[in-house]
Amino acid sequence: MQKIVIRGGRALKGSVEISGSKNAALPLMFASLLSRDEMTFHRVPVLRDIRTTKQLLLQLGVQLDDFAPGTLRIKARDIIDHTAPYELVKTMRASVMVLGPLMAREGRADVSLPGGCAIGARPIEQHLKGLEAMGATIELQNGYIQARADRLKGADFSFDLTTVTGTENLIMAASLARGTTVLRKCAIEPEIVELAHVINRMGGSVHGAGTTTIVIDGKDRLEGIAHEIMPDRIEAGTYLLAAAITRGDVTAVGCNPSHVAALLEKLDEAGLRVETTATETRVISNGNIKSRDVVTDPYPGFATDFQAQYMALMALGDSRCDITENVFENRFMHVQELVRMGAGIRVSGRTARVEGVKKLSGAHVQATDLRASASLILAGLAANGVTEIHRVYHLDRGYERIEEKLSKLGADIRREKDDML
Ligand code: EPZ
Repeated sequence: MQKIVIRGGRALKGSVEISGSKNAALPLMFASLLSRDEMTFHRVPVLRDIRTTKQLLLQLGVQLDDFAPGTLRIKARDIIDHTAPYELVKTMRASVMVLGPLMAREGRADVSLPGGCAIGARPIEQHLKGLEAMGATIELQNGYIQARADRLKGADFSFDLTTVTGTENLIMAASLARGTTVLRKCAIEPEIVELAHVINRMGGSVHGAGTTTIVIDGKDRLEGIAHEIMPDRIEAGTYLLAAAITRGDVTAVGCNPSHVAALLEKLDEAGLRVETTATETRVISNGNIKSRDVVTDPYPGFATDFQAQYMALMALGDSRCDITENVFENRFMHVQELVRMGAGIRVSGRTARVEGVKKLSGAHVQATDLRASASLILAGLAANGVTEIHRVYHLDRGYERIEEKLSKLGADIRREKDDML
C-alpha cells in the first residue's frame, strides 16, 4: 500500500498538460472488439483502470502491444473466451462495457454482475433491457449475467434514465446488429461523441451522438483504425480546482473548455478569473473564494465527477453553500475525511451544507473512491501542515502521474510506502 504526503499552503502556479481521457479510453478499448483488424490508440493514459481493461481483453484472447509509451495496439482477431470474471469486474465496473461488443460480434457473453461500490448501488438494468430489446436473452446465474443471441437485431429503445456507459454499451451493440437501432433519452457526454466518431471511422454508421436520440445502422464488419484519445476533462477540471483552492494561477493545456463549461461558470461565480482559448483554460485566484451552491447533473450540467473536489474548495468559502448530488445516491464518502481536516460540512439526504472555515488543518485521511481521493489531495494542498492520504490506489485509477504534475506546479507532495495500513 502507498500513501501520498502533502505539506500544504503553497499557491500552485504554471501550466499542466492534460492526459488522455480515462472515460473515453475505456469504451474505445472495448470498441476494439468490434473489429478483427488492429486498432491503434495514442495518448492512452497510464492508469489502473486501463491496466484492468487490458487484463480483461487479454483474458478474451485479444492481442495487445503497448510497448510505445502512451500508444496501445489492440487486435481482436479471435475471441477465445467470453467471460468477464468477478475479480476484474469488481475492481472496475466499466468492465460491463464488454457486453455490447461481445454480444454484437459473438452473440454470447458471461459477465459478472458488478455489485455495488462506494458511491452507490449502480445497477445496470438499462444495459440489459437494451440488449433484450435487440433480441438477446439475459439470465442471471451464480452472480453472472449470461447473455445470448443468434444475431442482435435493430430496435427502437428508450432509456428510463440517463446512463453514460449504458448509452456507450448499446451504441457498440447496435453497430454490428442487423438493421437500424434508435436509442432515445441517451446521455450526451463528450466521450460518447468520441466513441461514435471512432466507430464511424471504422466504417460504422452512428448518427446523433451528443444529442439524446442516436440512430445506428448495423454493419457486417468494422475496420481497424488509429485514433488519438481526447483529453480528460475531469482531470483538467481537477487541476483548475487546485488552482482555486490554493489561491494560485494554473493553465490546463489540451482540454476543450466547452467540455468543462458548467465548472468554469461556477468558478467564475465563486470569484475566480477564468481565461480560455480553444485548447487551454486558465484559472487565476484573487485570494477570495465565494461560497456558491451547486447541483450535479448529467452533461452538460455540473459533473458529478467534480462534486467532491468542489466541496473541498467550498470548505474554504467565505460563507455557506449547499452541494446537491443528483446523480449518485452515496457520493459523500469524502465528507467525513474533510471534516477531520476541519471542514464544516453536514449532510442531509442528497445535500451537503458547507459552512466555510478560514483554514483546514493537515491530517491522516483515507481515500474511498476515485474523486473523493482527488478531493482530499486538493484539501491537503490548501491545508496548514501535513496531510497523509492513505489507500491512494483509488487515485491511481484516474489520475496519471499526479504527484509529478502537482510538483511541477509548486506543490510539496510525495508518494511513500504506507506502513500504517
Ligand atoms: C460514468 O459511469 C462514468 N464512468 C463515471 O465516472 C461518472 O461518474 C458517471 O458516468 C456519471 O457521469 C465511465 O464513463 C467509465 P451512469 P456510469 O450509468 O456510466 C444509475 C469516474 O469518476 N443507473 O451514467 O456507471 C446509476 O446508478 C467515474 O471516472 C441505473 O440506475 O454512470 C447512477 O446513479 C465514476 N441503472 C446514474 O444512473 C443503469 O442501468 C448514472 O449512472 C445505469 C445507471
